[in-house]
Amino acid sequence: MPNRSPLKALAILVVVSQAPFCAKAAENSLEVFSWWTSGGESAALDALFNVYKKRDPGVEIVNAAVAGGGGSAARPVLQTRLAGGNPPDTWQSHPGWELLDQYVEPGYCEPITELYKSDDWDKAFPKELVVDLMTKDRKIYAVLAGIHRGNVLWYNTKLLEQNGIKVGGQMTFDQFFAACDKLKSAGIPALGVGDSDIWASAQLFENTLLGVIGPKGWTDLFAGAMQWDDPKVKEAMKLFAKMQEYMNPDHAALSWDQAIKELMEGKVAFSSMGDWADGEFLKANLKEREDFGWVSHPGTAGSFIVIADGFTLARRAPHREAAIAWLKSVGSREAQEAFNPLKGSIPARTDVDHSKFDGYHQWSMDSFAKDKPIPSCVHGEAAPAAFQQALNDAVTAFLMDKNIDNFANALVLAAKQSEPAK
Ligand code: BGC
Repeated sequence: MPNRSPLKALAILVVVSQAPFCAKAAENSLEVFSWWTSGGESAALDALFNVYKKRDPGVEIVNAAVAGGGGSAARPVLQTRLAGGNPPDTWQSHPGWELLDQYVEPGYCEPITELYKSDDWDKAFPKELVVDLMTKDRKIYAVLAGIHRGNVLWYNTKLLEQNGIKVGGQMTFDQFFAACDKLKSAGIPALGVGDSDIWASAQLFENTLLGVIGPKGWTDLFAGAMQWDDPKVKEAMKLFAKMQEYMNPDHAALSWDQAIKELMEGKVAFSSMGDWADGEFLKANLKEREDFGWVSHPGTAGSFIVIADGFTLARRAPHREAAIAWLKSVGSREAQEAFNPLKGSIPARTDVDHSKFDGYHQWSMDSFAKDKPIPSCVHGEAAPAAFQQALNDAVTAFLMDKNIDNFANALVLAAKQSEPAK
């Protein structure tokens, strides 16, 4: 297919989005690519599929999910397919650098700006996320299914109670380490991590870094106004190193959701993880507050690390009509209300019925409304893929040598090479 002018693409999009799909539906299929394969993730993905199937019954969905939390295994597979001209119809992407640099810039995505008008999304989705993080040259390239909060510290309520530990509405690092010491002396690994995929440890560091440098420090760091060897960054590295003393010994053998399972089983007390963890608790029928609780990762109350999940439209999508219908479905109120209560994320739309959400979601929606949004580096929003990878590599090395200077220097160098957030 020859290159289309953006205007023509837009015109086609308008026509297609108004055309009836049902006639050809029987022979239609739709390939949806994601990394949603854990218990909670697949339950939520199924909910998205079900809403779509109701809207577009004749289309067979091909679930092309690739296992591996955080997309660590999925993204390389996707890259190969995109580079080879064999795209799925639509794929999961984080806004920001990941979407714009890895997929839009090389021309793998078709803009879906028109859907924001035809489906009134212009009004339904918050501007700062849509306009800033998914837009290039005034064209919008994805629709969000939901928004995760990254800086959450989960805990096993009963285990903390048994050990005389009370968690209030916020937590300082001192309070956290005091709890860790108590648990350690009772022979319990306080902190559950599942870093068989290193991003889970990188996320623990990311959360800790925010807890020390705060939102202003975060902005400065990713704008190059603060360096990665700044004393404050090194202070965060020190705390991150200290956390290793309280970790589950099998962390390197576990995936993120297996670590959450250890928390549910009372083998570990805390886990610092994005709120897709909530999806695992829900899937296991655990009761909030009674079985599990949460608080902002130490030092990060007042900030919301944004890890949003969007879906794209492939350029030359093999099933373009179905893909557009899928995106319209993902962006619908019905889909957002069906998907997010199971996923742990909050709807990106602002006009959903809040009464459909449980206590955790109410807490997160509240936080999103009033706290400082912070783009995640570990999940591809704040910096280019090269820096995200460098951070993962530096964390891997640090877990081995615990050398703060090496850790800081590696990131100074990586920041110079990849120029994050410029
Ligand atoms: C995604 C979440 C997903 C998590 C763990 C994150 O990058 O945004 O939707 O649940 O990874 O797989």
